[in-house]
Amino acid sequence: MWTGDDLQRLVSRELSDYRLIVVSNRQPYVFRIENGAPRGQMPPGGLTAAIDPLMRACGGTWIAQSSGADDRAAMDDAGRIAVPPDAPAYHMRLLNLSEEENNGFYYGFSNEGLWPLCHIAYTEPMFDSEQYGFYQSVNRRFADLVLDEINDDPAIVLIQDYHLALLPRYIREANPDAIIGQFWHIPWPNPDILRICPWQDEILDGMLGNDLLGFHLSGDCQNFLSCVEANLDAQVDPAYGLIDYRNETTLVRPFPISIDFASLDNEARSAEVADEMARLSRELGLHRGRILGLGIDRQDYTKGIPHRLRAVERLFEKWPQYRGQLVFLQAGAASRTNINSYMQLTIDIEATVNRINERFGHDGWQPVLYWPTSLPTATFSALRRLASFCAESSLHDGMNLVAKEYVASRVDEDGVLILSAFAGAAQELTGSLIINPYATEQFADAIHQALTMSETERRIRMRQMRNTVQENNIYKWAGRIMMHLMQASTPDHAGLTSTATTA
Ligand code: G6P
Repeated sequence: MWTGDDLQRLVSRELSDYRLIVVSNRQPYVFRIENGAPRGQMPPGGLTAAIDPLMRACGGTWIAQSSGADDRAAMDDAGRIAVPPDAPAYHMRLLNLSEEENNGFYYGFSNEGLWPLCHIAYTEPMFDSEQYGFYQSVNRRFADLVLDEINDDPAIVLIQDYHLALLPRYIREANPDAIIGQFWHIPWPNPDILRICPWQDEILDGMLGNDLLGFHLSGDCQNFLSCVEANLDAQVDPAYGLIDYRNETTLVRPFPISIDFASLDNEARSAEVADEMARLSRELGLHRGRILGLGIDRQDYTKGIPHRLRAVERLFEKWPQYRGQLVFLQAGAASRTNINSYMQLTIDIEATVNRINERFGHDGWQPVLYWPTSLPTATFSALRRLASFCAESSLHDGMNLVAKEYVASRVDEDGVLILSAFAGAAQELTGSLIINPYATEQFADAIHQALTMSETERRIRMRQMRNTVQENNIYKWAGRIMMHLMQASTPDHAGLTSTATTA
């Protein structure tokens, strides 16, 4: 099993001559003044939770947009913030965007254009030239900050996600020697879908500034290779995942992202979580024999939250024995609330929760609880430990780390994971009950199956999934990316000719 120490050793053996620079839109710690001092908190979302352990192990600089009200108060004289706040291991350097830039770059082209384009969730992407202009100029501003940070030293730049598709090309043009990799945290569409984007060629060209381009699944890699083949004058080798374009080579590989299994496992065994479990058991009536079902998501229309609630509603219709007994808790913070489709989602969720509670609730029992706020990590851990089942019903999802977090928290080897076939995690977590979130009847049946499954079967399934996540943890993910980056940056791509685009 890979650990943070293994990763640290690999990096200091192979990469000690290089500066490591991670770039993402979202910052890993957001600062707010509390009791007179800046306090850093991790924002919701899989990206920051996944990359923070890598940076803790390797050190370096993480460049991101500043979004915390009091980030400035936490900065040193050079504009850097040492994080994590409780045990500093790396630095953050933040870019301030104007409201206009953020509206065009983040809310606009990134989240109203690329996000729905890459997810098959039937939300129409919006493409607006002015917003795209901001996407270009903000990517340039990120490039300027990265180049300033590199300062002509040998550097590895690891770019994160769809907000920064043009950044690799901008860095490559100014600094041909930098080793550049990018991990795309969301799915990649096929050529028929990509072609509705008016700037598809420029986006592909930007991404081919990378030495290494990572997606979660081999299907995403194949889609990307097909898009390049269909649109650009490039040599594409689908068997080896290699693209030759503008006299440069980009290696395309799947790296299914993961979590820091050991840290979640440890936390779930802590006294703090035990206290939180006792408190929540009383609050939710579990000490009186009630059962808890759980959904945790950043509130996003790709997560299939209304679909999940409809399945819970169908469960209460079809099996009245769960009335008065099962409490379904939907937790997780609201997200991107300036965008219409997200506002509409909140309205839909609230209406569905109210409908179910009005239909079935009675004195002393509320069937669905809805907690759309950020909660302490110990509370999330306690909820995962208490829930008889956790349902993750994404309509389309690059990976879905909540599913892996549920598994890592089940130190008692109990609990059932219900998981959408359309989440990347379904390819690894084969001990889950795989559902189609659009098929409400089948989904409700799966919840019933989870609640009636024998303890022996629950344990067999959970043990198998825990082994998988423990083995394929975030350190192994990061280690594989680092090794491929080193190989991809050598001119002859030594050792890379035998691995096709399979995970
Ligand atoms: C997804 C994206 C990340 C993003 C996260 C949270 O996981 O892939 O890039 O950071 O959602 O969304 P937000 O818009 O709040 O950064």
